[in-house]
Amino acid sequence: MTQSAFSSRPAPTVVRTAEELAALRPELGRTALVPTMGALHDGHRALIAAAREQADTVVVSIFVNPLQFGPNDDLDRYPRTFDADLAACAQAGATVVFAPPVDVMYPDAATAATGLGQLVTVGPGPMGEVLEGEFRPGFFQGVLTVVAKLFNLVRPDVAVFGQKDAQQLAVVRRMVRDLCLPVDIAAVPTRRDDDGLATSSRNVYLSVKERHSALALSRALFAGERAAGGGASAVLAAARAVLNDAAHAAPPVSPDYLALVDPATFVEVEQGHSGDAVLVVAAWVGETRLIDNVPLTL
Ligand code: PAF
Repeated sequence: MTQSAFSSRPAPTVVRTAEELAALRPELGRTALVPTMGALHDGHRALIAAAREQADTVVVSIFVNPLQFGPNDDLDRYPRTFDADLAACAQAGATVVFAPPVDVMYPDAATAATGLGQLVTVGPGPMGEVLEGEFRPGFFQGVLTVVAKLFNLVRPDVAVFGQKDAQQLAVVRRMVRDLCLPVDIAAVPTRRDDDGLATSSRNVYLSVKERHSALALSRALFAGERAAGGGASAVLAAARAVLNDAAHAAPPVSPDYLALVDPATFVEVEQGHSGDAVLVVAAWVGETRLIDNVPLTL
């Protein structure tokens, strides 16, 4: 291992194949996996820090998974910043970076007539048909399929996901439970920049003006959170009022959805609901689609 130029921690070992991972496995001890698509930011650093507290070894996977992108999604322009990601992993204390090429994750991709040649996939069930699942058909199937592969390749004791992708977290938890997968799932709260914007790899797409408009998402969520004492409809009304204003901003914010849901099932909660809920929002600002959420108690 070489010493990183950016930190006093040793640079992570980079592995690209299942065989290289298998050769390392006997040395790993208790292992935490942080699955990522790269373009690492402070939110990922928080995931790696949480993973370090749970295990001897932190494996960060970096793989832009084509199976979870729809035909109109941003697969081609998704930021790919491997050298910076490696430096961030070193700085945050990751031990191993697993960065497979597409043919390691999808061995039939090169010879398939269309698509990736993946015949068997993991389906998210009804939780995958609402909200993100409704607006991004096939997204959760792609996520669960690649996450299941990563679990089988890395064989972590624990895997760490961000609360920022609340529906992804819930669907992954449900896969682990329903398929009896031998891995614990740990969640890390959303990291926000000082202005309230949730950290996301897609924030780099935003112009200065778009970023200003995008702050309406977190403002709407915080307004909803403050209204929690008034029940579900008060939460939604408070958040919706902020988004309605933001629809007239320049550039405008165009929501795909705003919903108050059960954090485990993603079913919308009733007005009389008491207990945990999560207020979720997805919206477009220019060409960029952003999601955010805030957990709250009613
Ligand atoms: O959250 C992400 O970055 C991705 O959906 C994940 C979990 C790495 C699967 O590709």
